[in-house]
Amino acid sequence: MCGIVGYIGPREAAEVVVGGLQRLEYRGYDSAGIAIFEPAAGLQLRRSVGKLSNLVARLSREPVTGHVGMGHTRWATHGNVTEENAHPHRDTSGQIVVIQNGIVENYLELKARLLELGYQFHSQTDTEVIAQLVGHYYREEGALEPALRRALAELRGGNAVVALCAAEPDRILAARLGNAGGVVLGLAQGESFVASDVPAILDYTRDLIFLEDRELAVITREGVTISTLAGTPVERRPVAVPWDPVAAARGDYKHFMQKEIHEQPRALMDVLRGRIDQEAGRVHLDDLRLDDEALRRVRRIYVTACGTAWHAGLVAKYMIERLARVQVEVDYASEFRYREPVLGDDALLVAITQSGETVDTLAAMEEARAQGVPSVAIVNAIGSQAARLADGGALYLHAGPEIGVASTKAFTSMLAAAYLFALRLGQARRTLGPAQIRAHLQALVELPGKAAEAIERALPVCAELAERYHRASDALFLGRQVSYPVALEGALKLKEISYIHAEGYPAGEMKHGPIALIDEDMPVVCIAPRDGIFPKMLSNIEQVRARHGQVIAVGNVGDTELAAKASHLIDVPDTLPLLQPVLSVIPLQILAYDVALRRGCDVDQPRNLAKSVTVE
Ligand code: AGP
Repeated sequence: MCGIVGYIGPREAAEVVVGGLQRLEYRGYDSAGIAIFEPAAGLQLRRSVGKLSNLVARLSREPVTGHVGMGHTRWATHGNVTEENAHPHRDTSGQIVVIQNGIVENYLELKARLLELGYQFHSQTDTEVIAQLVGHYYREEGALEPALRRALAELRGGNAVVALCAAEPDRILAARLGNAGGVVLGLAQGESFVASDVPAILDYTRDLIFLEDRELAVITREGVTISTLAGTPVERRPVAVPWDPVAAARGDYKHFMQKEIHEQPRALMDVLRGRIDQEAGRVHLDDLRLDDEALRRVRRIYVTACGTAWHAGLVAKYMIERLARVQVEVDYASEFRYREPVLGDDALLVAITQSGETVDTLAAMEEARAQGVPSVAIVNAIGSQAARLADGGALYLHAGPEIGVASTKAFTSMLAAAYLFALRLGQARRTLGPAQIRAHLQALVELPGKAAEAIERALPVCAELAERYHRASDALFLGRQVSYPVALEGALKLKEISYIHAEGYPAGEMKHGPIALIDEDMPVVCIAPRDGIFPKMLSNIEQVRARHGQVIAVGNVGDTELAAKASHLIDVPDTLPLLQPVLSVIPLQILAYDVALRRGCDVDQPRNLAKSVTVE
């Protein structure tokens, strides 16, 4: 995700902004920029690629002075890492600057419309489209606030947007749409702040206001005025942030697992950053050290991982085989390392690991290396052993630290990363053309918003189901095809934090044993999206119900047929079949969390478990 800092008050704005961006460096960046309003010279922009220190060096050569401004550390989403693509972006008049954290899902159609109106673009970014759209409406409205409202009303996706106009240097405007990541406002005597995260402004104030979805703030020296995007005034009192860094890191959440479940929309956005080119219909995995030629030579892929990551590997098999038409085998790393696998010289190992330190997964990578087989790591922890061992490159999740022992945002990010890898492989092997890839990328870009919707839909239903079933001693999770690994993951989530014995099974296997377990006390969770295998899943649900089993179905929004057959329905938005697991798993994470809470379990540090299994 990107870092945002804005300031208005008596201090040197550049100092406050750069200092704040330095506090946000953990968010990652590949370029940085700042815009300061100088009374004599108007809006001054300084932008640079690479580390923040490059921007600092630029500012020492070309200083800017002023008391209102904003800055941004960028992690490319659309467009390469260049100075032109660095934020802030200006409108055609040069009088309005905009920075953004998020993805504009419909930026291509907005850009086409503005091009037809004669606007020129200087970057490949979706953020410049916002700037130009605001500038377009500013010419009609004559003021920044109405122009920004009109522009934001047309955006689709999750966005945190901050704007400044040279003709109105007494204010900064900020808005939050969807789940792009936070917009936090800081209040102090005679000065105000805006940032994408708390650490950027804690040095100056602890009185903060968190903008909510579809809210806009006018920020002046005197304070902030908040309203909905439609213009309805909003009264919001500042909260005092705790001094304790752990509590500050946990924010408003009771547990890290809860926070990380809610971070998934933003994490899904971050795994896409810098890797998709919707206009060209291409995927760029620059962190892979395998070019098209090397990828075309691969005839067989071995995916190896443990626990939740192994479940992601099972989903990756479906993605890679269907999109890139390459044969995939999936192994538990603890099995792979001892079974003396015969890998062959046209093989590739893909290790999936959140921590990058799991001893069995590392051993599996060593085994591949011993046989001269290259390996790629799909990994979250930057610079971890797996990332260093992967001679084919590390495909980082960029999900940020995952503290809760039960993996949530890392899992869904692994699925999105595996999908990107499958598309990249299909692109190299020409099993997918640009038009097909563009359609897949559109589905990926819409995923963060759909994940946010899945969370909102699941919260009330899972709370009620947890109340009803938290005393169960057993649970069964059933799914077919690409939903079978989701069943395994749901069972693992429940068992590892609530200690209820839970099993995931392919639904087609029910009659080969597990059906004997069915009774009116045991909840049976059935993952049943409207995919090609849905009719078979529906008959499995009828078989469970015929034996008085309680079926909790996870299905698509509006599936009345499923609702009629199941005892309970948790609905999620639909997406492409191979991406559906990203959404289907979310209610299962929330259900496990709610059940564990009601059982008084230690959600973040469940008994006997560690976040990373670094010893056998
Ligand atoms: C999942 O919730 C567990 N924390 C565990 O199964 C975990 O997925 C497994 O230990 C693998 O960890 P890794 O992804 O860091 O390699």
